[in-house]
Amino acid sequence: MSVAHIEIKSTGVYVPEKVLTNIELEKMVDTSDEWITSRTGISTRRIAVDGEATSDLAYKAGLVALEKAGMTPDELELIIVATITPDMFFPSTGCIVQDKLGAKNAVAMDINAACSGYIFSLAIGSRFLETGTYKNALIIGAEKLSCITDWKDRNTCVLFGDGAGAAIITPSNGEGKLLAFDLGSDGSYGDLLYLPGGGSRNPASKETVENRLHYIKMDGNPVFKIAVNKMMATFKKSLKAAGLKPDDISVLITHQANLRIIEALRSFLKLPKEKVFVNIEKYGNTSAASIGIALHEACEKKIIKRGDIIGLAAFGGGLTWGSAIIQY
Ligand code: ACO
Repeated sequence: MSVAHIEIKSTGVYVPEKVLTNIELEKMVDTSDEWITSRTGISTRRIAVDGEATSDLAYKAGLVALEKAGMTPDELELIIVATITPDMFFPSTGCIVQDKLGAKNAVAMDINAACSGYIFSLAIGSRFLETGTYKNALIIGAEKLSCITDWKDRNTCVLFGDGAGAAIITPSNGEGKLLAFDLGSDGSYGDLLYLPGGGSRNPASKETVENRLHYIKMDGNPVFKIAVNKMMATFKKSLKAAGLKPDDISVLITHQANLRIIEALRSFLKLPKEKVFVNIEKYGNTSAASIGIALHEACEKKIIKRGDIIGLAAFGGGLTWGSAIIQY
């Protein structure tokens, strides 16, 4: 689908201070720095402190984006928080962030599309702006994955980290355009990556806790293969909708789940390494936050400049996937 004249006015980020290294993980589970680095590309990840919730991370990233946009919270009209680690079932983390910001004139909501959440939020927010319903939107991908990570499961605990990435989008009169996006999902793959406990299917009980049902379960290998195929397909669709070729992309930012997945997409698109922004080594997989964090860092480092063509691609639990092409 193609969308015109929506710009990313600003970006923001917040990552917790505490760094958890692969060496520290070696002491927690049967793993090694060598395995984690060579199989995933991850060296460290950030971990929120006890008492720090997803809304706290989201709020701080949102504040940075607001400041960079030169906006005050009361100017905000729409807040979308993408997360699979909400503070609680309800109220939504979006509403909690709205309150923390004092964004009294906004409407707030959450989106659950796991690691594709940032792109889903960007697409949904843009549609509201395009129809003229709202004049701006604060989108935030935020996760405290450390609280749903099974620190006894080496298959998953080495992968995840906490953080938040935000953006303010507005209609644009200049170069900024969301040229195309594509979203997809296939619920038949739901049991490859899920959290079974605490919902209406398995309400929280002594048994769900004892059976460790409140932690992420993932069959990593099939997820890996589907992720590569779906990311290639969705990115091709967005490129076609934008009328562009891979070569036209200035910077590609994908969900940071595994360096080998990022490499597979890069090689499929025949992009040189310098056109692909990667920060997985520092933060691991922060699910809905990862693209927002990477986009902010790439902008701050001036790797992305106004007018550049940016490609985004993600996949995650659901399974869900999505891509977008933006003229920045
Ligand atoms: N340390 C050491 N060995 C390990 C570890 C570890 N941390 N984890 C797994 N292994 C072992 C396995 O037990 C297995 O051993 P075996 O051969 O004796 O059985 C071996 O390593 C290979 O395991 P695989 O699962 O085949 O390893 P793979 O190369 O697939 O890598 C990984 C695993 C990193 C999880 C990969 O499959 C992956 O990245 N999958 C995609 C994850 C993802 O992107 N998820 C979606 C987003 S997350 C979200 O939406 C919340």
